[in-house]
Parts: sequence; structure tokens; C-alpha cells
Amino acid sequence: MARKTVIAGNWKMNKTAAQASAYAAEFLTALGQAPLTEVVLCAPFTALPSLQAGLAGSDVRCGAQNVFWASAGAYTGEISAEMLVDAGCTYVIIGHSERREILGESDELVARKLKAALSAGLIPILCVGENLAQRETGQAVAVVNAQMRANLAPLDAVEIQRLVVAYEPIWAIGTGKTASVADAQEMCVAIRACLAEIVPAAAAEHIPILYGGSVKTENIAAFMRQQDIDGALVGGASLDPADFAALVRRSGGEAN
Ligand code: 13P
Repeated sequence: MARKTVIAGNWKMNKTAAQASAYAAEFLTALGQAPLTEVVLCAPFTALPSLQAGLAGSDVRCGAQNVFWASAGAYTGEISAEMLVDAGCTYVIIGHSERREILGESDELVARKLKAALSAGLIPILCVGENLAQRETGQAVAVVNAQMRANLAPLDAVEIQRLVVAYEPIWAIGTGKTASVADAQEMCVAIRACLAEIVPAAAAEHIPILYGGSVKTENIAAFMRQQDIDGALVGGASLDPADFAALVRRSGGEAN
């Protein structure tokens, strides 16, 4: 069985409800025929209902960018996995480096969020990646392996098989610098090897692993040609609907 390919847009803290609605209409028109890849748009919480309404009837999925680990209760300002399902989400990004770095999210917190998302039926997109100093001192694979092990610790093999993993080197996010396709492929192989030590190797073969960090229409095809890269998590280049539709089509091998 071939692995599922996933192209996910991460809007980060951009777009109002009205902008999300307009985006959905323009994106679906620009996308044309349903792509063979799974396409996901990860929007801010406040834009999810209008995005979901705008995408209704299409195969494009909604995702959130964060979730809390408890399902309800006295947690001021937090949003539960059940609430995300209620808002129409299929996916949720967990452990993005911006949350790890800016908000101090620990590996343990990421692990609890993964568990909560899976329990509610969401597909987590688990983000892992090294910073520049770690890459330059040859620690990238060790750092990512340690993140994976700590984040997956509370999950059983069946849960792990429902994940999508995104390798996002921190130094490549929003900088215009991408990892070389060879480095990205090498890390995705290392991530799959790490998964194969935790779940049966045949199961690890089926977990989609994405690359993220300055992915654009111009470079998506080169990443997609790598054997262990099964898609992309796209920030800046997902903000314009026509551009992102072109990127999705290019990911599936179309010339434009
Ligand atoms: P850019 O594509 O803007 O570099 O962002 C990558 C990212 O962080 C996606 O989650």
C-alpha cells in the first residue's frame, strides 16, 4: 500500500473569518479537479467555522494549529480536541517550533496534547526539528530522535500509526532557506527508523512524514521526488489561495 501524501497549509496567526471564507471559494476554484493528495488548511480557531463552511462538499480538510490536553474544565483560554472536532477539524498541528520556542511548550506537554487529539479522533501533525546550532554541531538527528521518543512516550502503537509527522528544521522556517532535499530526505529516513523502533517496521512504513520550511511552488516537486518525503507543511506559501492551489497541483506532478 502506498503512503498517503499530505499537503498542509499552516496559516499561523493570519486571516479573519471573512478572509477564510473568501479563501475557501478561491482555493477550490483554483484547485479544480480533486487532487490525489490529502489537502489540509490549518486556520486560526476563530476562522475554523467559516473555513469549514466554505470547504463543505470538497475533499479539502480543516485543521487547527494547537489543542489543549484536557477535554473540558477550568482552563481559561484553552480549546479542547472535542471542540476542534465540533468546529469541523480533521487534523491538528501539535508541537510546532513556534509554540515550543515562543510559548515554552515542553516535550511532555506535546505528548499530552497528542494523546488528547488522538482520543478525540483528530489526526495530529506532530512537528519536530532542530535549530541551527544543533544542525551545525552535527546533533540534528539525535535532537529529532529525542523529541520523537519523548513526544510519543504515552502513545500505543495503534495511536502512533494514526499520526502524521512533519520535519521542520527551525532555521528553515520563514527564512527563505530550505534544507537541501538530500538533508530533508536523510532526516525523514531517520524519523522513519525511529518510528520503526517503536512500532512494527511495516507500520512505520505507512506513517506520512512531511517536510516543512520555506516550501514553495518552485521547490515542492524536488521534495516530493524523495522517497521518504510524503508531503509538506507550508506556512507563508499557503496564504494566497491561487499560489497554494498551484503548489498542491505541482506536488502531484503537474507542470503548473
Ligand atoms: P514557512 O513555509 O513560512 O517557512 O513556514 C513553515 C512552517 O512553519 C509551517 O508550519
